[in-house]
Amino acid sequence: MKIISILFILLTVNMHAENRLQSFKPGQTWPDNNGRHINAHGGGICVYDSTYYWFGEHKIEGKAGNKAQVGVSVYSSKDLYNWKDEGIALPVSDDPKSDIAKGCILERPKVIFNAKTNKFVMWFHLELKGQGYGAARSGIAIADKITGPYTFIRSIRPNAGHWPQNVTADEKDPRSIARTKAENDRFSGAPTKKHEKFNILGSHMEGGQMARDMTLFVDDDGKAYHLYSSEHNSTLHISLLTEDYLDHSGTYVRVFPFRWMEAPAICKNNGKYYLIASGCTGWSPNAARSTVADTIFGPWKELGNPCVGENTSNGLGPSKTFGGQSTYILPVLGQDNAFIAMFDQWRPNNAIDGRYIWLPIQFEKGSLKIEWQDEWNLSFFKKNPE
Ligand code: DGJ
Repeated sequence: MKIISILFILLTVNMHAENRLQSFKPGQTWPDNNGRHINAHGGGICVYDSTYYWFGEHKIEGKAGNKAQVGVSVYSSKDLYNWKDEGIALPVSDDPKSDIAKGCILERPKVIFNAKTNKFVMWFHLELKGQGYGAARSGIAIADKITGPYTFIRSIRPNAGHWPQNVTADEKDPRSIARTKAENDRFSGAPTKKHEKFNILGSHMEGGQMARDMTLFVDDDGKAYHLYSSEHNSTLHISLLTEDYLDHSGTYVRVFPFRWMEAPAICKNNGKYYLIASGCTGWSPNAARSTVADTIFGPWKELGNPCVGENTSNGLGPSKTFGGQSTYILPVLGQDNAFIAMFDQWRPNNAIDGRYIWLPIQFEKGSLKIEWQDEWNLSFFKKNPE
């Protein structure tokens, strides 16, 4: 009887081990510990206590899934292949008056840990319910435990009353500010030449700058930054947060003016900052960009499209980022020069079925290369020594 029990335990352990994932399969469904496709879109990772925590947009089936019906999901993993569903870190609210009322648009949540306050801080792109993409706000939530529950604090437009470090005299000109205010924000969120003829920065100085696609970054010195598409998506802003990470400090720069960078994702390797981003074409994929700087406030230099190869399941290559759009760059624990570029493959007609494209970044002579792989694992980085 004892032998049979031992055999049974060994068999179960073995079956369990066989079910465990041992590789990344970009663009394919990715089952969590319950066998359900991971539901954490536009996500980012926070590493805490040697564990990875993946936060992302929880989506439901159909087009309705592009609006927040549930909240922000969180998953945990030790090995990056196998993810445990840890539930909803930040639920949307049933109160229709809340900024995060069910049915709002809540995108690209990112969580960072503040070692001084011992709090986990979440930021996300927030669009108020019923206002399309017009609000262009940033939401902030806080928790004592990494998996939450997070408490929503407030939503804001960044840096109200502050000019960027690299403001020009023209941008401060009251006449161009008045002329732009008279336009009443009648600017599209996609590229037009009209934007360049106005002073969108100046028109939003008092009330705060627009903020849509975003990420967070904590530097080696503990300073945290919020990077977001601003000025109707035409220009990216990089803003230093306050020491508690709960607000903007008023110190920020405008970068890549009128380059229409969305989906910013950043990392630091060997003292240099690398940023990847997409162009601005809604849910449809476009060509990725990569950029480098010696300091986070720039100057930033564009390095071109980092993508190489073709997604064998849809035939899409660098001009469409394999069908994906960047969301985060993940430093792999315990390995030098090991970074994973995380992309979303959106499925706006059935939002919950959006896929994840995770690919290794190769640093080659100061530039970035992100090459398509049907399947890969972390041993890839041992061959990537720079
Ligand atoms: C592109 C952004 O990157 C996404 O996060 C989302 O906001 C879509 N646009 C909506 O069209």
